[in-house]
Amino acid sequence: MAEPLLSIRGLKAGYGDFQALFGIDLDLGAGEVLALIGANGAGKSTLLKAIVGLVPCGREMVSLRGEPIGGARPDRIARRGIALVPEGRRLFRSLSVEENLVVGGERAKPGRWTLETVFRLFPILGERRKSLGTALSGGQQQMVAIGRALMANPDIILFDEISLGLAPVVIKDIYAALPAIVATGVSIILVEQDVSRALGVARSFVCLQEGKVSLAGLPSEHARAAITAAYFGMRR
Ligand SMILES: Nc1ncnc2c1ncn2[C@@H]1O[C@H](COP(=O)(O)OP(=O)(O)OP(=O)(O)O)[C@@H](O)[C@H]1O
Ligand SMILES: [Mg+2]
Repeated sequence: MAEPLLSIRGLKAGYGDFQALFGIDLDLGAGEVLALIGANGAGKSTLLKAIVGLVPCGREMVSLRGEPIGGARPDRIARRGIALVPEGRRLFRSLSVEENLVVGGERAKPGRWTLETVFRLFPILGERRKSLGTALSGGQQQMVAIGRALMANPDIILFDEISLGLAPVVIKDIYAALPAIVATGVSIILVEQDVSRALGVARSFVCLQEGKVSLAGLPSEHARAAITAAYFGMRR
């Protein structure tokens, strides 16, 4: 197999004395969508935060194109092409849609994502470009958060719970945008509560349980019952 774009080896991380992750291994190929699943508190968000430098980890634990980047400063990791769409979206509420997107594009690598292409992906954002973050629905805020990540022209986007708390019709719109993003060559790690939805769009998956990988592979390789067991930690 060709060298993965992103490679995680033996990743341990936590918060002060509390260890949340106990030796995670994961490979993400170029143009791949990987679903990261697991019950509440399994460590999914912590893993995404460690990848982007928001939670400390050892240098050799995360490699991008074979180069160790673990524990580097978040702005450095962002500039090397990894973007996080965090849980809860975290927009600048006093800025307009357009201003939020422009912030995401500051010091961006050149690439195909611009205000114009983001507005083509999510036309409602173009219509509401002058609206403040506070005036948007939850779904529209999520679209801005995704657009803001795209504006950096990253090679990898980490999505933490993109559909949490959104209406089904909005979730459909957001998921409908994923193929267009992947078609531009972006690789994705997708954290999603809805396992069926996540496995439906992903090529591969990693299931975490209490800070360890409980199962990984291709969705088609494992029986649904085995995935459910790995998710909830049931003995079979
Ligand atoms: N800032 C923090 N300080 C201390 N402990 C934390 C912090 N954030 C998370 N934890 C703990 O780390 C563990 C992993 O949490 P994490 O948020 O990564 O799980 P998760 O899989 O994303 O869960 P969820 O599905 O609820 O989002 C949990 O035990 C959690 O309580
Ligand atoms: Mg989480």
